[in-house]
Amino acid sequence: MIEIPGNVFPRRLDILLPMAKKAQGMFIEDENGRQYMDASGGAVVVNAGHGRKSIAKAIYDQILSHDYIHPTMFTTRPVEMLATRLAQKAPDDINRFYFFSGGSEANEAAIKLARQIHVENGNETKYRLIGRWKSYHGLTLGSLGAMGRTSFKTYFTPLLKENLHIPAPYCYRCAFGLTYPSCKLQCAMALDEMIENAGPETISAFIAETVPGATIAACFPPKEYLKAIAQICDHHNVLLILDEVMCGLGRTGEFFACNHFDVVPDIVTLGKGLAGGVMALSAFGVKETHFNVIKENSGVFMHGGTFSHHSVAAAAGLALIDILDQEKLVQRVKIKGERLGELLKKHLLPLAQVGDVRGKGFMWGIEIVKDKKTRMPFKRSLKIVEGIWESLFEKGYITYKSSGLAGVNGDALVIAPPFIIEDEQIQRLVMAIKSTMVEFFN
Ligand SMILES: Cc1ncc(COP(=O)(O)O)c(C=O)c1O
Repeated sequence: MIEIPGNVFPRRLDILLPMAKKAQGMFIEDENGRQYMDASGGAVVVNAGHGRKSIAKAIYDQILSHDYIHPTMFTTRPVEMLATRLAQKAPDDINRFYFFSGGSEANEAAIKLARQIHVENGNETKYRLIGRWKSYHGLTLGSLGAMGRTSFKTYFTPLLKENLHIPAPYCYRCAFGLTYPSCKLQCAMALDEMIENAGPETISAFIAETVPGATIAACFPPKEYLKAIAQICDHHNVLLILDEVMCGLGRTGEFFACNHFDVVPDIVTLGKGLAGGVMALSAFGVKETHFNVIKENSGVFMHGGTFSHHSVAAAAGLALIDILDQEKLVQRVKIKGERLGELLKKHLLPLAQVGDVRGKGFMWGIEIVKDKKTRMPFKRSLKIVEGIWESLFEKGYITYKSSGLAGVNGDALVIAPPFIIEDEQIQRLVMAIKSTMVEFFN
């Protein structure tokens, strides 16, 4: 084995990570020959499983055909075709797609696009952004400012723009202490009040994950929530940005998660699994009407990047969409996701420390609590979810962590497997989570 000099500034500074050697289908193997079931597709990215030959071939062929082409000098067939495929799957009127490398970048650009649309419509006073508490939109300063997960911002607060935030639709820990449906969706009504108080003439956009992912662990909102939000935005001429970086592309059983709610956002962002995790690829989609405002006024979206509209990444994205379509993987998520949810509920909800199991499709959250009756969380300093996650990893199961669900405290595991997971693997995974949690708390 080759000695590692150690010049990488790694993501984790607290441990030495195993060296990955091979990844195929549902599994990753390290250099010591240990196998891990990738039950979260990394960071909810590897939607079609590892080692897809058709994506590899598409990338190879594209490089040989033409590789890097600057997006202001040429357009390319893979980029044009990927935009068309996405437009065909998108809700009405979301017709124009702009490509980037990561989800943060797509959200950053969406925030800027909303502002530019207002300015070009003659609404120069509209610039403020409203987000939700306990949300995640990315690591760049704009998307970090938009998000409501305070612990991620602490070091950087002086660098960030002060944005406004409303409570998340988090029924297990309702910010208003209410219960759905008698709550009459106070969490949505809070947007109207926030806009009224701040002055509608100052608000540019509201940004939210269609289905919150990592921060409140796959908490699927009440059915009418997004419609109410969309109506409030519409009423105040506030643009609705839906972040589908994690929940889009079939993850919850619909290609666009907003289709669950019959809501069409002004701008939608995608990322993570857009190229199956093989290439860094993200996008925003925007309504044709807004695109036309830019086209007919300044004629340029004041945003650009060296690696936007990358033809090789787009070729990988197209190959990924072919796989989803040919293998009917989104329909599979819908069906198998119910099975995954049933098993998680059946085997985990009886445990004293499991407060809630929720989700949809292949995005499920297991919220861990100290006291089930009062829903009291464990203290963050105990690092409960980290402990459970490490034990599962040692046994060869990769899941995803969520923390800070109740103020700074709170723990949850997120289960978001590749769409190809087999019934037997689902069963094995659920039983491994159960036995690991039982051992951990005994
Ligand atoms: C909902 C959501 N938005 C945006 C991002 C940022 O994406 P990226 O890490 O690709 O920049 C993430 C990443 O986890 C996410 O979950």
